[in-house]
Amino acid sequence: VGAAGAYSDAQILAMVDEKSGKFDPKIYVDESLYRLELERIFARTWVCMGHESHIPNSGDFTTAYIGEDPVVVVRQKDASIRVFLNQCQHRGMRICRADSGNAKAFTCTYHGWAYNQGGDLVSVPMEKEAFGGCLNKAEWGPKQARVETYKGLIFANWDADAPGLDEYLGDVKFYMDIMLDRCEAGTEAIPGIQKWVIPCNWKFAAEQFASDAYHAGTTSHLSGIMAGVPEDVDITQVAPPTDGLNVHLENGHGCGLFLRNPMFYMTIVGPKVTEYLTTGPAYEEAVRRLGQGRADVNLCHTNVFPNLSFLAGINTVRMWQPRGPNEIEVWTFTLVDKTAPQEIKDEWRRHTSRTFSAGGVFEQDDGENWCDIQQVLQGHVAQNQKFNIEMGSHTVTADNPEGFPGLSFAYTYSEESARGMYRYWTQIMTAPDWDAIRRIEQQPLAAE
Ligand code: FES
Ligand code: FE
Repeated sequence: VGAAGAYSDAQILAMVDEKSGKFDPKIYVDESLYRLELERIFARTWVCMGHESHIPNSGDFTTAYIGEDPVVVVRQKDASIRVFLNQCQHRGMRICRADSGNAKAFTCTYHGWAYNQGGDLVSVPMEKEAFGGCLNKAEWGPKQARVETYKGLIFANWDADAPGLDEYLGDVKFYMDIMLDRCEAGTEAIPGIQKWVIPCNWKFAAEQFASDAYHAGTTSHLSGIMAGVPEDVDITQVAPPTDGLNVHLENGHGCGLFLRNPMFYMTIVGPKVTEYLTTGPAYEEAVRRLGQGRADVNLCHTNVFPNLSFLAGINTVRMWQPRGPNEIEVWTFTLVDKTAPQEIKDEWRRHTSRTFSAGGVFEQDDGENWCDIQQVLQGHVAQNQKFNIEMGSHTVTADNPEGFPGLSFAYTYSEESARGMYRYWTQIMTAPDWDAIRRIEQQPLAAE
């Protein structure tokens, strides 16, 4: 019996079998596997906390999650960022109960222990009388996480032995830059984080953003896409993309690209944002910074393992917050180029609200699929049927015709990236520490 209790390491490793193209859907519903995910994935990898523009000034804070562990994310006086466990070490109450704000200090509402902006315990009611002057406050601050940023996105990690963020992200940075690095000034978040609950496992959402372009042309999204076709455009010109890549990246990251299909993409972001992104000075700056190949990507769906997803081009960013094996909180915000005209920023906001938000037409399609699968999987017999994950495994290659980085590549409609993500999942779930995680062999799946 392995660390998951009910499953041995060998059984976990066998749950995803790329050779037969089969995998075990118990990874979505099993409670013991979920508890192991919190320990071996969320408590050891770099997890996104939001965007720097959410907390621009000293004392600005947001509360966030690393897995199910609540944290406080605070801008310090010296402009650095601290992330600490949102747990008072007296009896465990949340130190901060607000979603966001600005504070000079955080006072626990249970018995009044107070912490400064950095999370150090600075004041205890009746300290002299109740503790006789013997309480060593320096020992009783909340646990601090490591914090690093990448082009505006804030990440935190509990594990002192994990590699730095730059190394952990690796080649996924090349694809993140399609959204984060189009202009010199970088990006800013449209204010506010939308949050809602979906009764599904976090990996359905992560996997889809890593790998699934396949669903876009089916009932899942076709009606929403057709509804977005402007009146003056011939509807027969709008076809699901057939030019693109599915990319398997290291460390469980993955993405897929739509290339040279602005017409399809326009139905999602609208004509004005499409024009801004594909012509004129903002496009020319993107070509200079990113090169022609990346500047011409119309949409890049990506998952940064474990639970940060985005759609570059649409610029919706989401963190899939796990809440047990059968539920997630979706936290989303939209990024825009900092120097984009206000009219374009407003249009961007309107289109991400229309498409990818709690009430968005595409969001609801995706959520409904995930909920339905999760519900079916509550059945005993259903849990014991294998799923098919073989798409693209017969045509995958280590050579990328676009010259982009990654371990292996396939046609737009493939599950190569999903296979990469799930193989990494089996490996990190059975690796006892970061020494073992570093020894995970990461290679093109096609080469096996
Ligand atoms: Fe926070 Fe007691 S639990 S002061
Ligand atoms: Fe979708």
